[in-house]
Formats: sequence, structure tokens, C-alpha cells
Amino acid sequence: MQRTLVLLKPDCVQRRLMGTIISRFEDKGLKIIAMKMLQVTPELSRQHYAEHVEKPFYPSLESFITSAPVVAMAIDGLEAIRVVRDILGATSGLKAAAGTIRGDYSSSRQMNLVHASDSEESATRELGLYFNESEFCSYEESTAAFLRADDE
Ligand code: CMP
Repeated sequence: MQRTLVLLKPDCVQRRLMGTIISRFEDKGLKIIAMKMLQVTPELSRQHYAEHVEKPFYPSLESFITSAPVVAMAIDGLEAIRVVRDILGATSGLKAAAGTIRGDYSSSRQMNLVHASDSEESATRELGLYFNESEFCSYEESTAAFLRADDE
């Protein structure tokens, strides 16, 4: 079982696509264990996108990610880090395959609607930026028996 951070970015909130995008994760059988809307500050942006801070596109990325609220989610599932990124599609909406979130709803490299952690290390670091351990909800899913077999 893996845990990953998913962020619905300002374009997702502004375009009223939150429900549609959240449904993609629910429909797949992933388990949302924490969710909150918040305003990303420039400081949080620099922490979140630390690996991009020196890149030429960073000022524009920071201005975008701080332009409206985001929705942060912690999602659990088998191989959740890869599975969620597969659901998102390639970074650029112009390159993302049809059927993925970005392929279906984005035509931009920057305004690509959703962020998801790309490794276990990033997931741990990014989850820590948005959530305290006490905010992760532990609950039994009544549908679990119909989502996967006991030995999966
Ligand atoms: P995300 O998956 O959140 O990771 C880094 C973000 O930077 C990415 O999605 C895009 O929103 C943005 N990004 C990546 N590459 C570029 C680029 N070349 N120009 C502008 N924004 C980019």
C-alpha cells in the first residue's frame, strides 16, 4: 500500500473541475484519507517546487500556483504513486494521452490541473508540507471486498 499527495491546482478550482477530477480517483478504487482547500503561499510554493526554483519557468509557476486556492488530498492505494500519475497523464496537456485527466481537460504545460508525487521520497516530503499525521483518517471501506482480492 502506498500513500501519495495530490493537489488540485488553481486552474482545476477556477474551472469547477474539482468534482470531476476527484471522481476519477474514487472511480479507480483509490482511497482518499485527507482533503483540504488552502491558499499556497510563495514560501510553500518554493518548498513544494524546490527542484524547480532555479528553472526559468519558476516565477510563472509560483504566480500560477498562488493565484487561487488548491485542494490537497492524501490518497492511499496499491501502487498509488504510479497509478495516480498514470491517471494524470504526461505533464503537458498537449502531450498527455486521451483518457487521462490532462489529456482530456488540459491544453497546457503549466496549467495541467493536478499535481501528484512522483516517488515515495517525494510523497513523504510533500505530504509533510500539507498535512499533519493526525489529519490522515483511518477508516474501513465497506466496498473493499469488491475492489480487490485478499491476496492482491
Ligand atoms: P507538476 O506536476 O505540478 O510539477 C511541476 C510543475 O511545473 C508542472 O506540473 C507544471 O505545472 C509546471 N511546469 C513543468 N514544466 C514547465 C515548463 N516547461 N513551463 C512551465 N511550467 C512547467
